Amino acid sequence: MKHRKPILITGGAGFIGSHVLRLFLTKYPNYQIFNLDALTYAGNLENLKDVENLPNYTFLKADITNTKEINNLFELYKFESVIHLAAESHVDRSISDPLAFVKTNVIGTMVLLNAFKNLWSQNFTNKLFYHISTDEVYGSLGETGLFTEMTSYDPNSPYSASKASSDHFVRAYGETYNIPYVISNCSNNYGENQFPEKLIPLFINNILNNKPLPVYGDGNYTRDWLYVKDHAEAIYLVFHKGKNKQTYNIGGFNEWKNIDLVQLLCKQMDEKLNKPRGTSESLIMFVKDRPGHDLRYAIDASKINKELGWKPSVTFEQGLSKTIDWYLNNKGWLENVTSGAYQNYYKKQYH
Ligand code: NAD
Ligand code: TYD
Repeated sequence: MKHRKPILITGGAGFIGSHVLRLFLTKYPNYQIFNLDALTYAGNLENLKDVENLPNYTFLKADITNTKEINNLFELYKFESVIHLAAESHVDRSISDPLAFVKTNVIGTMVLLNAFKNLWSQNFTNKLFYHISTDEVYGSLGETGLFTEMTSYDPNSPYSASKASSDHFVRAYGETYNIPYVISNCSNNYGENQFPEKLIPLFINNILNNKPLPVYGDGNYTRDWLYVKDHAEAIYLVFHKGKNKQTYNIGGFNEWKNIDLVQLLCKQMDEKLNKPRGTSESLIMFVKDRPGHDLRYAIDASKINKELGWKPSVTFEQGLSKTIDWYLNNKGWLENVTSGAYQNYYKKQYH
């Protein structure tokens, strides 16, 4: 059989991972792409139905915290590059169960780093460990300013602290063992296949079910929204052209206060559902704030723009419209992921 360059993508059954996987599988028929995922509540092979039969795709069900299993898989498949997305990713869950975040995000990343280092320590030529992280490691901005790659780390939630820790370990392995690595820190993603615990899909699902839209605090928190397919393109560029031991910030040049975003979402939902203007907005309910809630995130993405020529391809209005259309056309997907354990999570979080 012709040798195909083996690339390991972790967390490929999740939201961002499934888009990255699809992009790599279709752009690279000559790479053998492995998707390693534990299929937690957030992992869903339905996200990959259209690509699962491609000859360059292999799914491996495994947990990144399982040292023995991960070492065996590295020995067996000799992954030359790793794109590491597997993580516990939801801030609210990190507040109720912080240790789960340390386990997967810190220990799991360490297990992968060790397996990669041990496999290639004699010769790292053409090898790469690409770690996907978040802008939340930088903490909170005030009313002005942007996060650059030089901004100091200042995480405030157990989620962001666990991601910050994993970023530090990746850097430390680069300095200590000389593993080739890149890190990208991106802003809030939105788009197709996002699990309905995050703001946008949660609110789409609640509008469809005529349930309240729980806005935390006064809703004056700001996030910089990035369309997931634009993020996948950025990851593709960083993977190929990013410089060793560099960090790239990826953002949408697209800041929205939560309340303004929710109003835009409500307006688009009313239009698409042929409901009178104001129907969805009447579901907005201001609820108890999230503890340690970061006021504002905003990314300065000029480095990736100048060095690698990346920029977002859609406006927020366009991306949001595509996203809503996908959820409206995939109600079965929503029903599947919101049955069972989701109901218990929802009750605990919002009642
Ligand atoms: P997600 O929660 O949708 O998916 C995570 C995936 O990882 C799931 O498929 C899950 O099954 C898998 N996973 C979890 N624990 C695992 C384990 N122990 N072993 C193997 N697989 C495991 O997450 P996402 O939103 O797609 O985020 C992907 C990455 O991007 C994460 O590292 C996250 O921190 C980062 N990120 C996400 C956002 C965002 O807005 N979603 C923003 C910035 C950074
Ligand atoms: P979220 O999608 O959880 O992403 P992150 O916390 O990583 O930024 O939340 C986005 C913003 O929306 C954040 O300011 C918290 C807020 N939010 C609500 O107001 N209500 C909700 O039910 C959720 C899930 C989030």
